[in-house]
Amino acid sequence: MLRPILIHPDPRLKKPCAPVTEITGEIGQLAEDMLATMYDAPGVGLAAPQVGILKRVLVMDCVKDPEASARPMVLINPQVTWASDESSSYEEGCLSIPDHYAEVTRPAQVRVRWTGLDGRETEEQFEGLWATCVQHEIDHLEGKLFIDYLGPIKRQMITRKMEKLKRDRARG
Ligand code: NI
Repeated sequence: MLRPILIHPDPRLKKPCAPVTEITGEIGQLAEDMLATMYDAPGVGLAAPQVGILKRVLVMDCVKDPEASARPMVLINPQVTWASDESSSYEEGCLSIPDHYAEVTRPAQVRVRWTGLDGRETEEQFEGLWATCVQHEIDHLEGKLFIDYLGPIKRQMITRKMEKLKRDRARG
């Protein structure tokens, strides 16, 4: 089932999310819905607060080559356990901030530990778009958006445009 994606500004996008204490059927359904919503958008990552659920769950699939097979990932309670000194910049966007992109600098590689839907702990090192995406999505779980890395003027400009977009959408 597709879930509506919250658009910035929304108080639910600014709150730290709670850890998942038990992997219930509800969490399984949430992950499945989030993946469907992300692919439909289309996007490469989505965090639970973006669909209004303040829990530490994110999904991603950064396989861009249409010939390659998809790699849908579900990360529960993800934590960065190591970040490289080397950084990289990427033109980031966000499904909660449609049609706006900005260069954000982050560590080029990160190691992340998380719990899977099967309850198993996994740790993996990410680089390239995967590293950018996983850090962007983990930020969402802390109530942080990529525009928080920008200067106040640019951030306010984007926020005003989003407010207008929401007003226009509400009007139909
Ligand atoms: Ni985002």
